[in-house]
Amino acid sequence: MRKQFSKISKISGEVSLPGDKSMSHRSLLFAALAEGTSTIKNLLESEDVQTTQECLRKLGVKIWQEGETYFVEGAGKNGFKEPGKPLYCGNSGTTTRLISGILAAQNFPTILTGDDSLSKRPMKRVIDPLSKMGCNFESNEKQTLPLKIIPSGEINPIDYHLKVASAQVKGAILLAGLHSKGITSVIEDTLITRDHTERMLNLSFEETDGRKITKVSSSNFPKRSDYFVPGDFSTAAFFIVLGLIIPDTNLVLKNVSLNKTRIPLVDVLKGMGGNIMIEKTGETNNEPYGNIHISGSELKNIQIDKKIIPAIIDEIPILSIAGIFAEGDFEIRGAEELRVKESDRIKSIISNIEKTGLKIKEYDDGFTITGKMNNQSCTFESYGDHRIAMAFAILSSLIEQGGEVNDFECAAVSNPRFIEQLGSIKSQ
Ligand code: S3P
Repeated sequence: MRKQFSKISKISGEVSLPGDKSMSHRSLLFAALAEGTSTIKNLLESEDVQTTQECLRKLGVKIWQEGETYFVEGAGKNGFKEPGKPLYCGNSGTTTRLISGILAAQNFPTILTGDDSLSKRPMKRVIDPLSKMGCNFESNEKQTLPLKIIPSGEINPIDYHLKVASAQVKGAILLAGLHSKGITSVIEDTLITRDHTERMLNLSFEETDGRKITKVSSSNFPKRSDYFVPGDFSTAAFFIVLGLIIPDTNLVLKNVSLNKTRIPLVDVLKGMGGNIMIEKTGETNNEPYGNIHISGSELKNIQIDKKIIPAIIDEIPILSIAGIFAEGDFEIRGAEELRVKESDRIKSIISNIEKTGLKIKEYDDGFTITGKMNNQSCTFESYGDHRIAMAFAILSSLIEQGGEVNDFECAAVSNPRFIEQLGSIKSQ
């Protein structure tokens, strides 16, 4: 579907955003592991989260909805049933990697498959630690999907230094570690990743000199719970950038996750001169949330510290759009992980931005944007990647002549209601 966006000159009002994607996956998985019925409110209703639900249903978990609340009747320890067929993980790297940690500890083998994009993404990063924990795997030479997970019947505790700064890998190890009596430790050396697994499972972690050690054992096995999923900050980021760039904005994003490992984009944008005010309103399952107030601002590009890259990794496409409208050149480095997301996001961003007349220098781990935009209407490609689709929808809404995005339907992977939300804050 090709979607057209015309220039937006004014936005105002309030938006309540759908539940956070990372926390939605985790609340479903933890509820499925627990014994008893858990409830989930504000669960993200997107394709990726639907994928996790479908995988869990195939493992024998009952999930249903009454009004706005989801109910999950957990399988309890060793309660999953063998699915008989491969589990299809669609476009969702989070489903694949997190569920691998759980499936590594079952008493039956499972095969994971995915769409074209997911089938190209690296799985060695979970195969290595889970093999050390005693699980066996069968895959192709590239160690991509389809992946057969063959549990050995026992999970050995390990001390593991994360080789790639990935919360999905950390999550897979911690979830496998829940099935072992011994203590498993995950050590993150300099680059700290999002910590929803630790917070939502109430795991103990120590942090000294930028090094973090998280510990897990069977004593942390989840119990039934009532979850409320705060709004997704990564989804909020599109509206934050739009609001900052449009003069006279007065926008409030309600009940958004304020988890510190997720919102360093706020510090970057404030450093660029962005007028953003954060108001904490509550906390749920150790996860803070609140309102984000945005006013139109004059932005200036700044140097972005490589250390925060894992904490802004999903927001780099939309941060690049902010960078185009800010004074000076925009540069991002230390972000090689962008190459293995839903698309090669460095390539996707560059080939789209080049259409606007701007110049880009590409590096293995990032890019620099220089020059001037010509403000003519452009047709951008989503490359089947939800965050690219929405970032270039925002750019189209800021270009004088508007613009369009091809294959926009992939936005439904994380926010099927993006167009509706955008329409609701447009002032006439
Ligand atoms: C996620 C972690 C991040 C992020 C993804 C969701 C998670 O991936 O990009 O959208 O929920 O753990 P990596 O941890 O692999 O960087």
